[in-house]
Amino acid sequence: MKIAILGYGVVGSGAYEILKRYGYEVKWVLDIRPHDELGSVLTSNYDDILNDKEVSVVAEAIGGLEPAHTFVVKALKAGKHVVSSNKHLICQYYEELHTLARENGVSIRFTSSVGGGIPWLYNLRRSVRCDEISKVMGIMNGTTNFILDAMITDSRDFDEVLKEAQALGYAEANPSADIDGLDVARKTAISASVAFNTIIKEENVSVFSMRTIQKCDIDYICKNLGTVRYMGFGIKNGDSVSTFVEPTILPLSAPESTVCKNFNMITLFGKSVGRLSFFGQGAGKYPTGNALAQDIIDVVSGCSYTQDTPIELTVDNHKVERAYYIRTKAQIEGDIVAKCEKINGNNHIITKKMSVKDIHTLSCAILVSDSSSFFAGIEE
Ligand code: HSE
Repeated sequence: MKIAILGYGVVGSGAYEILKRYGYEVKWVLDIRPHDELGSVLTSNYDDILNDKEVSVVAEAIGGLEPAHTFVVKALKAGKHVVSSNKHLICQYYEELHTLARENGVSIRFTSSVGGGIPWLYNLRRSVRCDEISKVMGIMNGTTNFILDAMITDSRDFDEVLKEAQALGYAEANPSADIDGLDVARKTAISASVAFNTIIKEENVSVFSMRTIQKCDIDYICKNLGTVRYMGFGIKNGDSVSTFVEPTILPLSAPESTVCKNFNMITLFGKSVGRLSFFGQGAGKYPTGNALAQDIIDVVSGCSYTQDTPIELTVDNHKVERAYYIRTKAQIEGDIVAKCEKINGNNHIITKKMSVKDIHTLSCAILVSDSSSFFAGIEE
C-alpha cells in the first residue's frame, strides 16, 4: 500500500515529516509550488497519483472545496482509500463522500478535520459501534479559546488578542470563520453526523457570534456565574437533533473551565460509557499532521471503516431549553426575564429557561436595536 499526500502546506508537510520519521514511505506529494527537499516525490500532476496502481491511500490536505473535492471523488471512484483534514470539504460533501466510499469498498477517514491533533472523531466512531450517543459538545476552536482565556486571565483586549492569534497561525485566513462561529458550526455538524449516524449540514447549526463580547461581560460573568467558553453542541432527542454554537457560561467546576490558551476539549455522552472527554491541541502543523498520519497508518494497517447508511433525523432546536445571559441596551419585552441588572446603560439579563430556537429568533430582533448585544447560553 503506497501513500500519496495532496497539498504540502502546514498539515500536509507535518504529516509527511512524521510518516517519514517513522519509516512509512510516501510515494507522491502533490503541490503546485516547488519543494526541492521532496525531489521526485513531488508532482503537480494529479494523474500521476490517480493512475498509479500502487497508491491505495490518498491523503487530502489541500483545504477548501476545489480542487480538493474533485481529487477526492476521483480517488474514491478509482478504489483508493481517502483520508482528509479538510473540515469544509467533509462538512459540505459528507453524504456524497460516504456513499462513494461505500460503493467502492474503501474507507473515508477525517479525524484531523475536527479537533486537530485530538483523536476525537476516531474515538467517537469507535464509541458509536456499541453505544448510544446522546450528546456531543466541546471547545473546538483554538482561536476563540485563546481570546477568551486571555480576556479572562490577563484582562486583555479582544482585538489585540485576535491579532496575536493570527500571528501565531491559529486563526483562519478570514478570522470571521473563527469568531463568528462558522468553523465551530462545521466541526459541530461533522461531529453530530458521526455521533448520530445522520447528515447534519452547516446551515442546520444555529450560531451566536462571539465577536460582541466585551470586558463588562467578562466582569459580570466571572463575578456572578463562573466563566465563559465558545462551544458547539449536538444533542439527540428521540428522532430529532439540536445543533448550535454559542458562547457558553460554565461553572468553574466544569472541565471546560480549565481549558486554557488555544487548547480544545471535546466530549461525548454515551449510554454505556458516560462522559468521555478529549483534550489537546486543536490546530498546528505537527498535532494536526499527526492525526492525519494516524488515519493514514490505520488504513495502511488494514483498519478499515465503513459508515452505516445514514438515518434521517430532523434538526429541531425547540427541544433543548437553557437559561441565557444577554447584555444589551435594547428593551426586552415578554416574560422571559428572570433577573436584570442595569450597569452603565447596559441591561445584564438572565433569562428563564427557553428553547435554543426561541433565543436565536429573539436575538435577531435584539441585534437590530443594539448590534453590540452579547448572548451566551448557561450550561448547567
Ligand atoms: N482556526 C482553527 C482554530 C484552526 O483556531 O481552531 C483549526 O481548525
